[in-house]
Amino acid sequence: MMPEHSASGYIRSIEYIDRYYGEFNPWMLRYVAALHGIACPDFSEGFTYCDLGCGSGMSTLMLAAANPAAQFFGVDFNPEHIRHGEQTRQVAGIDNCVLLERTFGEIYADALPDMDIIVLHGVYSWVSDETKAELRDILRWKLKPGGIALITYNALPGWAPLAPLRDFMREYALGSSVDILDVAREGIKYLHFLAETDAPYFRNNTAARQMLDLLGRHDIRYIAHEFFTKHWRPLYFREAAEDLIKAGLNFCGQFPLYLNYGEICLPTASQSITTTAPNRIAFETHKDFVRNTMFRWDIFVKATPQFAPDSPENHRDIRFGLLKSIGEIQLEMQIPGGRKIGLNGEIYSRILDFFNLNCGATLGETFASLTNYKPEEVVSAVQYMVMLDAVRPFAKHVKTQIPSVAGLSQANRTFADIQLTADGSVVLAAPVFGAGILMGREDADELLGKTHGKQEHTKVFERAAALGL
Ligand SMILES: C[S@@+](CC[C@H](N)C(=O)[O-])C[C@H]1O[C@@H](n2cnc3c(N)ncnc32)[C@H](O)[C@@H]1O
Repeated sequence: MMPEHSASGYIRSIEYIDRYYGEFNPWMLRYVAALHGIACPDFSEGFTYCDLGCGSGMSTLMLAAANPAAQFFGVDFNPEHIRHGEQTRQVAGIDNCVLLERTFGEIYADALPDMDIIVLHGVYSWVSDETKAELRDILRWKLKPGGIALITYNALPGWAPLAPLRDFMREYALGSSVDILDVAREGIKYLHFLAETDAPYFRNNTAARQMLDLLGRHDIRYIAHEFFTKHWRPLYFREAAEDLIKAGLNFCGQFPLYLNYGEICLPTASQSITTTAPNRIAFETHKDFVRNTMFRWDIFVKATPQFAPDSPENHRDIRFGLLKSIGEIQLEMQIPGGRKIGLNGEIYSRILDFFNLNCGATLGETFASLTNYKPEEVVSAVQYMVMLDAVRPFAKHVKTQIPSVAGLSQANRTFADIQLTADGSVVLAAPVFGAGILMGREDADELLGKTHGKQEHTKVFERAAALGL
């Protein structure tokens, strides 16, 4: 007996894990487009945003709560995902988000507005070529000129030695039960059996052994969705980029941000490709070989660059701020597989001091205040500071007069209720930041009134009020 798959071959019988992805942050996507020289779209009065394959919608709903002037849409064909997401939406009182139970091919019937941003995470390399073509059609017809797309996929060469793990599991376990979770458990058990009996595939393939250890720690729903869908094909960057070019999109960057800089993310011996690669597609393709890339978070835009990457003009309206206190901010980082970077100059401390006092100020305001530095130098320094998560793009200016605190918004109380993690941390929607922020257990407990004997006007309440929580 076979578990239920949809006509497209994707599993529809069980829900996927529902979580918030910081990479979906519209203000960060807009910043990456600006770094690529794209004229920065103005989001201050709102924007339209669509999540294709939104699952139960945690990311979409979080961003809707954090951006009340924008309109959000989530599309997914799994009825349980949409029912679950809709329930959260209603309890949270979020009215700027529509979750639609549709296949990708069906969305045109809904007369959705054209989108400023379209995200598709965990979808593109897990669907058939026909579904990929439907997704590209949506990008071609529904993404506005100048619009931004975030597209993630399993990549090569990283998956090349590991793809048989998926094939063996399916070969052995598919058909063993009608319950796809049991099938997934059986598949993992079989791989462990092969590894423990010293099967040469594992003996000769250290990466596969490491991956098996990792798989054992994953939620079984992830294993089912990741490996038991009918279509699953990791892609070379070149194939994905060339497909998307046909939909009118141009590659503009990648998450994490440090991957956009060969001189930082490549070992010294391979850095020459940064200058010798004839174009960005060739550079990315070579970089994936050098870094053995397994997964890509790619950002594309429906536009061509109009500015030089560090152009102050293009960055003038972008707001930045700090999410941590100055004492907690690290200005050095060992880039995985690359260099260690440390930001030592005075310019970095000046910028931190400025945003500490003017959280959410624009770069134009920063240029006017840091007159000892050329605007280009400020743009470049901020770029490194964002790479290190020291400084973050913000949606709004933080008010200096903090209003008295009434407590968490209805949306955040709902998010806190449903996200109880083992370590007690939660992600809450921060309208001043324009995205979700992670709150550690102590702060979350205090905000939720679980900690006794504390007064409202503590630092954590002040910070929550400043961020609009
Ligand atoms: C791996 S999950 C990723 C979910 C979510 N984006 C995330 O990253 O947490 C892929 C999602 O795409 C949806 N999906 C797959 N094929 C689809 C199709 N043809 N039409 C609509 N949704 C589809 C699935 O139901 C599933 O929720």
